[in-house]
Amino acid sequence: MKRREPDKVSFVGLGYVGLCTAAVFASKGLNMIGVDIDGEKISKLTKGEVPFYEPHLDRILKSAIKRRKIGFTTDIAKVAETGTTFITVGTPSRQDGSIDLTYVKKATEDIGSVISAGDSYHLVVVKSTVVPGTATGLVRPLLEASSGRACGDMLGLCSNPEFLAEGSAIKGTLHPDKVVIGANDEKSGNSLKRLYMSIYVRQKVPMIATNPTTAETIKYASNAFLATRVSTINTIANICQRLPGDDVEIVAKAIGLDPRIGPLYLKAGPGYGGSCFHKDLQALISLSRKLDYDPVLLSSVERVNENQAIEIVKLSRRLLSSLENRRVAVLGLAFKKDTDDIREAASLRVIEELVKNSASVSAYDPMAMKNASKVLSPKVEFATDAMSCLKGADCCILMTEWDEFRELKPREIKTAMRTPNIVDARRVLDQDDLQGFNYLAVGLGAP
Ligand code: UDX
Repeated sequence: MKRREPDKVSFVGLGYVGLCTAAVFASKGLNMIGVDIDGEKISKLTKGEVPFYEPHLDRILKSAIKRRKIGFTTDIAKVAETGTTFITVGTPSRQDGSIDLTYVKKATEDIGSVISAGDSYHLVVVKSTVVPGTATGLVRPLLEASSGRACGDMLGLCSNPEFLAEGSAIKGTLHPDKVVIGANDEKSGNSLKRLYMSIYVRQKVPMIATNPTTAETIKYASNAFLATRVSTINTIANICQRLPGDDVEIVAKAIGLDPRIGPLYLKAGPGYGGSCFHKDLQALISLSRKLDYDPVLLSSVERVNENQAIEIVKLSRRLLSSLENRRVAVLGLAFKKDTDDIREAASLRVIEELVKNSASVSAYDPMAMKNASKVLSPKVEFATDAMSCLKGADCCILMTEWDEFRELKPREIKTAMRTPNIVDARRVLDQDDLQGFNYLAVGLGAP
């Protein structure tokens, strides 16, 4: 084994969170090792190839590799060369919505056993999203047993959730609104705080010091709150849609000026997607029920979200009466713009409903087609660009707010489509530009 460098930091699990965070830490001058079991991923990363799209990641990763600030390996034993190890493995959902902690357990035990031979302090930081109580109730006993050390003088443990949003992960890590440090003990908390202070040298980043369980709850509370806002504004949108002259955009703008409410996460749409909101709400609901409390609010937030796709398809049915054998062009598949991620995307629910109703679906997305083609029904046709997707369509459903869709020329859309019916599920288009179209939009009452 190489000499141990106490200031060196390792990340175990190089998915979205692990890779983005490790790359930013390396760009800030820390010496990093990234570990993952996927050998193919490791050899690509070693060459500076990023396995998913995230703005700026490619650039900062390549630069960190060039400056030898970050290295990659499949060999978990390398974490023993570092003083701090972040666990950033995936925490998928089980069939019943509860969280699957298999990878967290495995990573913990592996880390414990490789540091067991050493005789220096090692700090383990749980950054994976885990249900409240995991670090204390699961990670700590496993880590102590596998390392043969007790938490305290020689072994540290913290929960340190991340709040990255896809598309702005690098910016979010460079300028976080807070860092949450859930420390098992004082030494652990101080060690992690020191590490963050060495990263955010000239910035005042609020550090929330608490215990591991509260830190874990903060992460779930944050996503539960944001998802609730989206489902709330979508509920209001569905009401507005049924009232002549009503408009959720103006409602959102007005209520957002109230400092008690604020303007963010008030954009009505086809429902939230992405890898976190649904998964985390389900995990929190499941945990809560185990604790003998039924969190009806959270279940309703999820139900509203599921139904929102049906509401969007209803709008297209209002324009077409029956969807049977009608050609519907779906513009946008990613769960939001500037990502190729389609996990839990509303487009998948909308397309499933369209196919169920025997519509013939053509789809286009600037980035997410490859991922979408792996999961969508083989009946869906994929177009090479927006205009060919619209060709011969009886209706267009605009599902993702990509900038390129804002720039489509109404006259060209009209010429391409068989019937100029548009359902704008993101309020991207300007109704005033769409003379001669049948235009329905989420949260917009009839004129
Ligand atoms: C989210 C959280 O923002 C982040 O803090 C957490 O760490 C992971 O989950 P992300 O999934 O990347 O991040 O996406 P986000 O930008 O929050 O959007 C989630 C979904 O809500 C998207 O489908 C988006 O289109 C939708 N949304 C968001 C709305 O429909 N309206 C809004 O006003 C905001």
